[in-house]
Amino acid sequence: ETATSSRKRDHLVICCEQPVEAGDAGFNDVRLVHNALPECNMDAIETKTRFLGRALGSPLFIAAMTGGHPDTLEVNRRLARAAERYNLGMGVGSQRAALEKPELEESFTVVREEAPRAFLCANLGIIQLRDHGIEWAERAVEMIDAQAIAIHINSLQEAIQPEGDHNTEGCLEALRYLCEEFSYPVIVKETGSGISAGTARVIRGAGASAIDIGGYGGTSWAKIERLRANDSRLADLGEAFLSWGIPTVVSLCEVRTAGGPIIATGGLRTGVDIAKSIALGADLGGMALPLLKPAMESDDALSAAIEAMHRELRVAMFLTGSRSTRDLRHARTYITGLTRQMLRNSD
Ligand code: FNR
Repeated sequence: ETATSSRKRDHLVICCEQPVEAGDAGFNDVRLVHNALPECNMDAIETKTRFLGRALGSPLFIAAMTGGHPDTLEVNRRLARAAERYNLGMGVGSQRAALEKPELEESFTVVREEAPRAFLCANLGIIQLRDHGIEWAERAVEMIDAQAIAIHINSLQEAIQPEGDHNTEGCLEALRYLCEEFSYPVIVKETGSGISAGTARVIRGAGASAIDIGGYGGTSWAKIERLRANDSRLADLGEAFLSWGIPTVVSLCEVRTAGGPIIATGGLRTGVDIAKSIALGADLGGMALPLLKPAMESDDALSAAIEAMHRELRVAMFLTGSRSTRDLRHARTYITGLTRQMLRNSD
């Protein structure tokens, strides 16, 4: 068992058993404007949508979580079955462990076996991309026969992890090269600290096809690393950064100024949060933690969770008079509180 692999198992166990969320993503500061007379048949509402040229059953995206340790295989199997059943897009967790050690591939390849038609997204850290080049990106995509690759950025986590990589020099160049040479769409993704308008322009300028917000206010890597830390100096470092990051709603409003498709993730907890994200400019709403717990339990628990999100999304669409996700994009919102104040300061 490699260090990367056992870390994957630690993360799953911690996320299921302990409180790993921090802060506020901002969805409580957003209200969709109620339409009292929607002239709309709720049961005929179309939740289907399109993303990077693919038709999807709904805007709910199963965000990148896991793989790389034998104990993660069942979770990925259930997530993949759900992706296939509801025609949802799905990201796998970082494939680094399996690229380092091909015996660990099974916990990823199971995803394509269970979801032969789903839109799957491979996953690789920007540091691994810089250090191993396009060849690792190619192997990651091939491993699960993916339609796209997500390159994740997690500077906060790297900075407070004892085994983390503390130097990002050369990452942007590696990203630019990948976007130029790769035959699959590249999605650049944060993992809980969000992306600013300026960074979004840099990412789009490098040629990325889409951006996944990975905003602040949901799963917190500062919190997870603090819980994992067995030395108090590292625990204190995690503690000091519990409130670091751009809340998802603020980040979404910033990133949309750079243009291009957007996945909103980080602290979305209901179908109403998905609806709000789309009204604010996202194409998809991704969830990790809310799907992890039911996926650890059973196929039925996961289906029930997904159907609950879809019901909430549908009611929110009805009450804004949105017959389709395209209509929902034009739904009006009120933005209040801290989110509004932060948006006044954005560039
Ligand atoms: C993640 N996330 C993640 N992201 C990524 O790009 N590569 C990865 O390997 C992982 N691994 C991972 C494991 C676990 C257990 C969780 C909960 C999350 C981040 C995830 O995709 C998402 O961006 C954030 O978790 C924010 O969404 P939630 O959890 O607040 O819905």
